[in-house]
Amino acid sequence: MARVLVTGGAGFIGSHTVDLLLARGYAVRILDSLQPRVHPLGKPDYVPPEAEFIQGDVANPADLDRALQGVDYLVHLAAYQDYLPDFSTFIHVNTESTALLFELIVARGYPVRKIVFASSQSVAGEGKYRCPQHGVVTPDLRPEEQLQGGAWEVRCPTCGIEMESLLIDEEVARPHTAYGVSKYAIELLARSLGARYRIPTACMRYTYVQGARNSFYNAYSGICRIFALRLRHGLPPVCYEDGQQRRDYVNVADVARANLLAMEEPGQVHRVYNVGGGRPVTVLEFARIMVDAYGSSLEPSVPGLYRLGDTRHTISDISAMQHLGWQPAIPVEQNVSEYLEWMSRYEATQEYLEEAERAMRQQNVLRQVRQPA
Ligand SMILES: NC(=O)c1ccc[n+]([C@@H]2O[C@H](COP(=O)([O-])OP(=O)(O)OC[C@H]3O[C@@H](n4cnc5c(N)ncnc54)[C@H](O)[C@@H]3O)[C@@H](O)[C@H]2O)c1
Repeated sequence: MARVLVTGGAGFIGSHTVDLLLARGYAVRILDSLQPRVHPLGKPDYVPPEAEFIQGDVANPADLDRALQGVDYLVHLAAYQDYLPDFSTFIHVNTESTALLFELIVARGYPVRKIVFASSQSVAGEGKYRCPQHGVVTPDLRPEEQLQGGAWEVRCPTCGIEMESLLIDEEVARPHTAYGVSKYAIELLARSLGARYRIPTACMRYTYVQGARNSFYNAYSGICRIFALRLRHGLPPVCYEDGQQRRDYVNVADVARANLLAMEEPGQVHRVYNVGGGRPVTVLEFARIMVDAYGSSLEPSVPGLYRLGDTRHTISDISAMQHLGWQPAIPVEQNVSEYLEWMSRYEATQEYLEEAERAMRQQNVLRQVRQPA
């Protein structure tokens, strides 16, 4: 029976991947530090007893070396992901651990057959656009002066005209956060060291992954958490900008299937794969889906706020994964109902709502559109 090491296997995507691996007959070992911001109550009860569990740090050579022994495949999902400005931690946990993996495999001659890495759509930064005059552009973040005036669409850096958003393919790499850079560096290491030492690799650029077990304590879990928390406390979801930003949300079960397909893809290949929902949904539509699923009569609010650093339209081109035989099967409506069901087991949630809003204020990224004089 082939053995798979899943780092971050106690987390959201990791635990669903572990379940699927076990169901398909793999032996599974988990290496997870039970990071306190994600797991303040310790090891989650969904971690299956059939999986071997090692509590340890992926950036620690002794922990990683212990976990690598006797492993055929590796799914490296453990990562630091937060909105905090501790930039070096992203590089330390996410990128250094990747280099360390290769270092140990090469030094010890471990016969690893393939490594699947968690990358992220954030590698693509603001995404991909077409200017009618100047062709395809992978733009920088929108300038703050533009956002202050409530002009949301991405403009051509050469002529200033509004551009058409395009599907983001795997060639686009223009990260604008330390997290995105840490993930892009993983992709570069996977290709260069994987090719040099003949260890096949796949880097999975997930979009917005949703579903049950997305740590309720993790502020990074995003739009589902904050909209659901507000509804639970009788408040409408707040959409930034004009609510027309397009995203593609993907269910965690679909992501787990993508991970296995990439892991089992034969050959000396080094791939980067987009893993997204394939269906553009605006933030306002998402808010309405959440309101309906909650059975609330509140209207989502669009108060003219924006966040520095937000992207406008980010829809991934998933054709490479589709060629591998993968198709996202679970609609956004189900993501939302699974998350609400998952959240209903938490009782006192007021403090998390307050903390989320306090964190946003502290980071000073939330701004109001300037009213015309
Ligand atoms: N959830 C998303 O929408 C999304 C989107 C793009 C990329 N990703 C990537 O997918 C991967 C999994 O994300 P997730 O949403 O399941 O996150 P998660 O926080 O639920 O799970 C991550 C797990 O890694 C563990 N961990 C953190 N630091 C560790 C360390 N130093 N050593 C060992 N274990 C450590 C945590 O305890 C946690 O169990 C991450 O690499 C993340 O960057 C997630």
